[in-house]
Amino acid sequence: MTVLRLKGVGHAYLGRTVLDDVSLDIGSGEILALVGPSGCGKSTLAQIAAGLLEARAGRIERLYRRQAMIFQEPGLLPWATAFDNIAFSLKLAGAPRQNRRERVKAAATSVALMPEDLTKYPVELSGGMKQRVAIARALVIDPDFVYFDEPFTALDVALRRRMQDLLLETCVGSGLSGLFITHDLQEAARLADRIAVLDSHGKGIRGVRPVPGSPLERSNDQIFGWVEAALRDDLLFRHIHDVDERQIA
Ligand SMILES: Nc1ncnc2c1ncn2[C@@H]1O[C@H](COP(=O)(O)OP(=O)(O)OP(=O)(O)O)[C@@H](O)[C@H]1O
Ligand SMILES: [Mg+2]
Repeated sequence: MTVLRLKGVGHAYLGRTVLDDVSLDIGSGEILALVGPSGCGKSTLAQIAAGLLEARAGRIERLYRRQAMIFQEPGLLPWATAFDNIAFSLKLAGAPRQNRRERVKAAATSVALMPEDLTKYPVELSGGMKQRVAIARALVIDPDFVYFDEPFTALDVALRRRMQDLLLETCVGSGLSGLFITHDLQEAARLADRIAVLDSHGKGIRGVRPVPGSPLERSNDQIFGWVEAALRDDLLFRHIHDVDERQIA
């Protein structure tokens, strides 16, 4: 069953076309990774899909029940404690008052935040802890679809791995569906069921590839081998590689 369908989506900022004829389907329980060079329109597409931005063309069908978003910047309220940041999300969602405290605690525990962390303000939290609060804030409303826009790009490699493991434990494979934007093909191959490549000028999806096996069962060797082969043999991914190299040069 499809939970998100984008058909012929197009968008322009100030008359400049950034997305044109983008079509994509995400199935129930599926995590689709979206990759593509910087500036090709990935965040714009996610914002359109989530309804934060109105598309200039095309159709969006949202068949899921409740969505949440996790961005690169945690975006916490600086004047509120970690606890209140998570609780605010429940308030916005109009959740009943009586069990809010328990729900916040359960969400915090699921991302391995300690009770003492919950009384801290964002300025007192490390980058990884802030991002855990942002994930707890998203998960506390019990979403069945999550938009991830490069949630771990700002974190160092070791922490990024830990956060990926955390996502595998809390979201992936638990029936949750999502769109996961990343620049990192390893990350995509670790977390996603399929990987879609957006054209470097936003002119449609260039191709979609399934990642073999389920995210919960993939070994590091399998992920590494798949990415290596994809970059070497698959023109779809060689294309992103070429563009990235050109940008660095
Ligand atoms: N609010 C805006 N107003 C005008 N132009 C914008 C706006 N937001 C994005 N753009 C432009 O639209 C294009 C697509 O931007 P978008 O942020 O969607 O790309 P992206 O693929 O998410 O890039 P990155 O990988 O760097 O996050 C870029 O050329 C960007 O400069
Ligand atoms: Mg972006």
